[in-house]
Amino acid sequence: MSCRSGRRKVTAPALASMKGRQRIVMVTAYDYPTAALADEAGVDSILVGDSLGMVVLGYESTLPVTVEDMLRHTAAVARAKPCALIVADMPFLSYEASTRDAVLNAGALARAGAEAVKLEGGSEVADVVKAIVRAGIPVMGHVGLTPQRAARLGGYRRMGKTPTEAEAIVRDAKALEEAGAFAVVVEFTKADVARRVTESIGIPTICIGSGPHCDGQVLVLHDIIGLSFYTPPFAKRYADAASLIRKAIEDYAREVREGKFPGPEHYK
Ligand code: KIV
Repeated sequence: MSCRSGRRKVTAPALASMKGRQRIVMVTAYDYPTAALADEAGVDSILVGDSLGMVVLGYESTLPVTVEDMLRHTAAVARAKPCALIVADMPFLSYEASTRDAVLNAGALARAGAEAVKLEGGSEVADVVKAIVRAGIPVMGHVGLTPQRAARLGGYRRMGKTPTEAEAIVRDAKALEEAGAFAVVVEFTKADVARRVTESIGIPTICIGSGPHCDGQVLVLHDIIGLSFYTPPFAKRYADAASLIRKAIEDYAREVREGKFPGPEHYK
């Protein structure tokens, strides 16, 4: 089946093989139109991130996001038929309680259209990663700042500042590779820690807020386009969608109040 932008479909093995050859571009999307636009812009992978909770659903953290939320938004993204690889986040408590739950929840996301799942954690989730991979579903790891565990980590802070913490992040990435993960997100670490991880494993690293030494980068779409109400210090805003949207709605409201909309062209 052909995909939206007419490029070769990006699979998990294809993405993994980009390490050392081509920098990987990943962006989040949570619905049909933004997935279609991201694919037309030529990204390699679309992440249906649990950042959904904050940038779309208005929660203060990712913790309230449910499997049902992720299924609905993953299915919407999949309906755009992107050539980019669709990766869906496993939300908080969908993989921690038991390996069986984890495999069933990953399977539900795959049935909704995810072509890979991402989950947070290192050595402590290695068995879960193995079981999901054994079920035939590619897994992307996520080390460094793992927002689902922000409370235990002491908040949203840069990770790997002490030698012990840096060592643990490298060890976690290696454990994920050994467990069968095909790539790993490295979030908000010191740049030299991300470089060490990238040099220590054979699967691609995808950085967010961890500097330039990864095999690729990921950002939250709403931060890129200027539609988030809080932008983290490591994100770059490439557009001001909030102003465009506000202005369009103000223009519409003014025209309705002045009797200019609808005009004859809208009701003939
Ligand atoms: O949920 C998300 O958007 C993520 C990225 C920050 C990597 O996990």
